[in-house]
Amino acid sequence: MRTEFTGWLRGFEEEVRARAVAGDPEWGRGARLEPCVVRSLQRFQVGEDGDGAFLIGKAERAGDAEYTAALRLFIAEEQNHARMLERLLAAAGAGTIGTHWSDAIFVWARRAMGLRLELMVLMVAEVIATGFYRALHEGTRDPLTKEVAGRLLADERRHVPFHCRRMRQGLAGVPGPVRAGVLLAWRAAVAGGALVIVADHGRTLRRLGRGRVRFVREVMAEAGTAAGMIQ
Ligand SMILES: [Fe+2]
Ligand SMILES: [Fe+2]
Repeated sequence: MRTEFTGWLRGFEEEVRARAVAGDPEWGRGARLEPCVVRSLQRFQVGEDGDGAFLIGKAERAGDAEYTAALRLFIAEEQNHARMLERLLAAAGAGTIGTHWSDAIFVWARRAMGLRLELMVLMVAEVIATGFYRALHEGTRDPLTKEVAGRLLADERRHVPFHCRRMRQGLAGVPGPVRAGVLLAWRAAVAGGALVIVADHGRTLRRLGRGRVRFVREVMAEAGTAAGMIQ
């Protein structure tokens, strides 16, 4: 059955083909990364990794097969991000970290939520990741890192509108003022998340030539665009 997500599903399928054609970056060329950047990438790698089983279960219950199929491919892209970051770290002679408390809390909280709320929380991470990968892509001097960050950034820029589309549908029946309140709360959550990143990865951002204020401003601009798509 065709739904408003049929086009998104086709888009994700095209990306699968494009990835197969493009192949992987040349890991063998190695990467040179400062210790603080390694630590930041290890943290983001953990965040990208997950099987999305709970999210899929909720989507299935919502009953749009095309959306669920697109969501599966979205999760596969996130797992590919985790894999690429792992390979990049390996190319720099560094390993991954198994888990991190912030991620464990994040995963636990998301499981306890309904689809809409989980998507909103997920979108906080997506918007912040977009900002971080942009800073990494534009700021790193390492060619392999630049390539990987560019690929991740390109995916994240598609993910945000995809979730926005579903959120727009999810909030369609909600009265205008409530919807506005939800989006305001969401933007506040993004601001909070961006401040955590700035506190946690300040040294990395500085290395990348990204001032803290500029980083937060860029993330908030991204959040504003996303909120506009949901509204
Ligand atoms: Fe990602
Ligand atoms: Fe993403």
